[in-house]
Amino acid sequence: MLAAKRILLIIGGGIAAYKALDLIRRFRERGAAVVPVLTRAAEEFVTPLSAGALAGTKAYRHLFDLTDEAEMGHIELSRSADLVVVAPATADLMAKMATGLADDLASTLLLATDKRVLVAPAMNVRMWLHPATQRNIAKLHADGILFAGPNEGDMACGEYGPGRMAEPLEIVAAAQAALGLGPLRGRHVIVTSGPTHEPIDPVRYIANRSSGAQGTALATALRDLGARVTFVTGPASVPPPSGVHVVPVETARQMEEAVREALPADAAVMAAAVADWRVENASASKMKKDGSGKAPALAFAENPDILASLSKDKENRPKLVVGFAAETDDVLTHATAKRVRKGCDWIVANDVRPATGIMGGTENAVTLVTATGAEDWPRLPKDEVARRLAAKIAEALA
Ligand code: C5P
Repeated sequence: MLAAKRILLIIGGGIAAYKALDLIRRFRERGAAVVPVLTRAAEEFVTPLSAGALAGTKAYRHLFDLTDEAEMGHIELSRSADLVVVAPATADLMAKMATGLADDLASTLLLATDKRVLVAPAMNVRMWLHPATQRNIAKLHADGILFAGPNEGDMACGEYGPGRMAEPLEIVAAAQAALGLGPLRGRHVIVTSGPTHEPIDPVRYIANRSSGAQGTALATALRDLGARVTFVTGPASVPPPSGVHVVPVETARQMEEAVREALPADAAVMAAAVADWRVENASASKMKKDGSGKAPALAFAENPDILASLSKDKENRPKLVVGFAAETDDVLTHATAKRVRKGCDWIVANDVRPATGIMGGTENAVTLVTATGAEDWPRLPKDEVARRLAAKIAEALA
């Protein structure tokens, strides 16, 4: 899948550097040539010998290594690659990138390259969350640097949170997407995600418990397969993925308009938990208690059904329309009926009774309902559900 692609792999100095060795193997298995470059700190964790042996080529180390310069100048080294990958990208290395420092071989290559750069950050959670690091990340995003991870989880330092380096296969997928090589390359997919907020007055609203986690995971998985993703998201509690076009909305009607504006698309995956009703008599100013003890009466109007109207759209219907069904009872019966009623191709159904811990949780147990039947998937992390669904979407659009 990466045949004949050349990857310049810059290995930063962090404990996750050991995973960079596996990453070299994963790239090579897929046909890529890898040229490793180690920072001085990286050499404290892995040796140039192991990186070079796994890559089957010389591992580069120092800027002023004259032999290296005679063999290949640093400018040429930075340009001869198809993609530059930094894994692990430490806080220090990213700070250098954001500032434009070039005081060693790795940072000089990053400044001199004319190719896309994909970073896989890895650091302690406090370092990741520090305003200085977040400032640098915002700069790197603005500079067009691509990100894989970091993931959230247990860390080598014993803490928990965001900062774990993405797994090697996730970095490979992100590299493929960066090189425009995934099976969904050239495809446009719209993903809706998160809850909607329906205002009661300027400070109050009606919402639901959707975190946006499943929709975000889906947008990420589709992006990783090379799709151009328009991510229409209500106010979710998880941040949107990088590398997708994010359209933030609040209400169902705004979401409908954003979906319309994003058309045409090859597929649409409607994972948003759209409010069925909005407050028809929402107040333009903050509602006040008037001392009479009388509560205001809210009148409701039905929101547009975005999934149904897109599925029935004669002119602009995407080839594949996927809906979600969050149910608390008779999941399969309701989902099967919903697929027909809404006119979509697939329904991804799940049981959201509080006891399942699915709504707002990290796992999902879904049943995929299509025109030809229903498939029960085992309980899996939402990321894995997303990857499986994205792979099925790629097959359906092939
Ligand atoms: O009807 P219900 O809300 O259970 O349907 C769920 C599916 O329909 C989800 O895919 C959701 O994104 C979509 N939906 C929508 N617009 C609405 C309500 C639901 O697109 N107004």
